[in-house]
Amino acid sequence: MGAHAELLARHRAVLPDWMALYYDEPIAIDRGEGRRVTDVEGREYLDLFGGILTTMTAHALPEVVEAVQAQAAKVLHTSTLYLIEPQIELAEEIARLAPIDDAKVFFTTSGTEANELALLLACTQRRSHQVLAVRNSYHGRSFATMGITGNRGWSASALSPVDVKYVHGGYAYRSPFRHLDEDAYIEACVEDLRDVINTQTAGDIACFIAEPIQGVGGFATPPDGLFGAMKEVLDEYGILYVTDEVQTGWGRTGEHYWGIEAHGVTPDVLTFAKGIGNGLSIAGVVAPASLMDSVLANSISTFGGNPLATAGALANLRYALEHDLQDNAAKVGGYLLSELASRTADHPAVGEVRGKGMMIGTELVRPGTRGPDPAAASRALETAKDHGVLVGKGGLHGNVLRIAPPLTLTDEEADEGLAALDAAFASLQP
Ligand SMILES: Cc1ncc(COP(=O)(O)O)c(C=O)c1O
Repeated sequence: MGAHAELLARHRAVLPDWMALYYDEPIAIDRGEGRRVTDVEGREYLDLFGGILTTMTAHALPEVVEAVQAQAAKVLHTSTLYLIEPQIELAEEIARLAPIDDAKVFFTTSGTEANELALLLACTQRRSHQVLAVRNSYHGRSFATMGITGNRGWSASALSPVDVKYVHGGYAYRSPFRHLDEDAYIEACVEDLRDVINTQTAGDIACFIAEPIQGVGGFATPPDGLFGAMKEVLDEYGILYVTDEVQTGWGRTGEHYWGIEAHGVTPDVLTFAKGIGNGLSIAGVVAPASLMDSVLANSISTFGGNPLATAGALANLRYALEHDLQDNAAKVGGYLLSELASRTADHPAVGEVRGKGMMIGTELVRPGTRGPDPAAASRALETAKDHGVLVGKGGLHGNVLRIAPPLTLTDEEADEGLAALDAAFASLQP
């Protein structure tokens, strides 16, 4: 039995079945450097998924490794009862970068927990537990965040501390409004929002929460300006706007630093996670001081903003800023997107190629139809892996290929990735 087979048997025995693994023969990654990883059987891959958009800069980035090693050698844990210098420094940097005035930052260990705080802030200030979320969304795995997740495949329970109504949003490809042009599509979503508020709620809704580009939902990318138009309605009712930037933050979309900027919206609350820590467990919430300070009781996260995670995240963030990785996401990501779109333009199994920067989704369909084809996505994933390239998948039906590499991806690596994807698409020809 090979190393992978043996690990798989042990994994299956003691870890939950609902933790999905990729591939017919799942792999364990032993180490990484730059954009490349090596599995425990010694095979090397180009990593175009970054551990679900989390390896933001690079594997084993020396700056991050050094910061983590130096902090680990000093002190691992002190608790939030004491001042933590890297935590303060990171909060200062994030408050400066966030599109929110007079910003304060609270650190958590996961995106789920960050969205929990966003809900708490909004519900506390508005004295309401009504929330609007978007269909096909994903916001986390706790009861409240599963409650605001509009994707049956990721929402295991109907129990919810918040009262949620779902509105139409960015997944135009499978929307009943898909036949409309962009302006008319936006208008239809705005009308739907107003209708939901007027017919399904008591009006005093706490907040609206949306991902600027839906991540788990298959990189569903709304027309620019959609959320700005929706916000005009939200403002009429005093409903707070929460932007979930867990996947779209830090320049990944290329054209903007935060995904929400494509919509001209100044959010009331912003949540982040994944890429900031490059794999360290760190996430958080940004809100104006007036809102952040409105929590009515003590609250801490034991591990949130710990010295190790914040020291590493600070080094990671600085590297991304100093090397203008947003610009690289725009250039190399733009190249990948246009190449993928043109190479698959006549492919009968490709319904749509979409996304921004280094967040690219390819919707796979049964040839000649709009019907989702999850088996094709699995096949494409296997073929890309056979050609030494790791990509992801997602979408409501599991039929969307997701490409989201570390933001340092080079032109040559993009070409290498495209060659593997050519083979993957060729394997789907009927
Ligand atoms: C948009 C979005 N929000 C929230 C989360 C939850 O983050 P975490 O898995 O760190 O709890 C995710 C995770 O995939 C996400 O994609």
